[in-house]
Amino acid sequence: MKLHGSMRINQRGRIEIGGCDTVELAERFGTPLYILDEELFRSNCREYHKAFSQKYGAEVIYAGKSLLTLAVCRLVEEEGLGLDVVSGGELFTAHKSLFPMHRVYFHGSNKSAGEIRMALEFRVGRFMVDNIRELEMLNNLAGQLQTVAGVILRLSPGVEAHTHDYLKTGQVDSKFGLSIQSGQAGEGVKRAQALKNINLKGLHCHIGSQIFQLETYDQALDSLMDFAWSIYNEAGWWPEEINLGGGMGIYYRQGDSPQQASALADAAMSRLLANAARMGRPAPRLMVEPGRSISGPAGSTLYTVGNIKEIPGVRKYLSVDGGMTDNPRHALYQAGYEAALANKADLPPVETVTVAGKCCESGDILIRDIALPAAVPGDYLLVSCTGAYNYTMSMNYNRLPRPAMVLVKDGRADLMLQRETYEDLIRNDLIPERLRKSHGVLGIAPAG
Ligand code: LLP
Repeated sequence: MKLHGSMRINQRGRIEIGGCDTVELAERFGTPLYILDEELFRSNCREYHKAFSQKYGAEVIYAGKSLLTLAVCRLVEEEGLGLDVVSGGELFTAHKSLFPMHRVYFHGSNKSAGEIRMALEFRVGRFMVDNIRELEMLNNLAGQLQTVAGVILRLSPGVEAHTHDYLKTGQVDSKFGLSIQSGQAGEGVKRAQALKNINLKGLHCHIGSQIFQLETYDQALDSLMDFAWSIYNEAGWWPEEINLGGGMGIYYRQGDSPQQASALADAAMSRLLANAARMGRPAPRLMVEPGRSISGPAGSTLYTVGNIKEIPGVRKYLSVDGGMTDNPRHALYQAGYEAALANKADLPPVETVTVAGKCCESGDILIRDIALPAAVPGDYLLVSCTGAYNYTMSMNYNRLPRPAMVLVKDGRADLMLQRETYEDLIRNDLIPERLRKSHGVLGIAPAG
């Protein structure tokens, strides 16, 4: 397993993260446990900030869908990034964390009136509008509140990213955004200009996720700028802002070759300037929305090894105490990960195993075919690069409580997310009157 950020192997042959011995973390907080390396999360933010904001005055907006809790909002705020939220729940989290609302960008392809009203009341910086119905709804609600909403229109640029089908979003056949090819994007700009309570600031696209080829961003940028040029000639509107979305790929396992934030910044900026110069128009302000490339490498998940099953000549299964409930990415996208035995990190690999989760589901596999030292029940398995789209896509299938998350730095570990309890699992359950037993107020067993 590649060691990321502050990961080290200590003298006891155990993996340390942020100066904390992972075996001690397991004993103190239990497993499964999400571990967030504060220094790595922050330095990933800084890398983007330096490459885009300091060098070019561009805006970096962290995509909260990759990992969002109150503490994460604080880290993002302290590092000077904006925040992309995509639902009332993410918006509420940002608000509760006291995140500055003018730095919040509100996404979503099917926002409800309630969510839009909430965002207007919180005075978010920008509405990332996906379609014309949303534009009309936003205009009406902003009118009721006697305010004007700052809007960026999400376009679908007709660009195919080289990634898993489920992670592509920029192609013509996509549920996201107004398509340029079909003329909907042009209609959207004209409609936005005609609406009193809409201030159209710019254009957005997001072509997909876990992308390694920077040329795809060039194509997307060209597509947005060509569109801007044609709509400028037709309707006299020119974007002040161009948002290229997120999508930068990260290292999950051998063979993955991520690009640096600075490479994207330099390439996108020079493309933007060249396009604007060719058109004789001022260059719009550049924005990007990285999620995975900030949170992904900074997170890992620690499990306890349980049953080990060997089917002679077929496969050896190593079961852990979590699985698709805390990380559904292998089940959904056949995503690959690296892992190590956290308490035997100095031993060489001797066998190939498949790491299985504990759900009643054959597809509940975390890692297929990974080389590890000989494992016994009670060992600890650390899976790296689980910071993005693990906790945020976690679930309670089989009524498994979600893990805790600790923030580690300089030998300190602080809980940033409590482990769910069995009580949490039944918190919203109700027993209809006719099913209640005569004893007990609710007809359920007394606590303890
Ligand atoms: N901006 C927009 C509009 C997005 O839809 C996304 C991700 C991002 C930014 C951030 O993209 P990132 O830099 O994190 O790639 N659940 C999938 C990924 C879904 C991505 C959704 N949109 C996974 O686990 O791979």
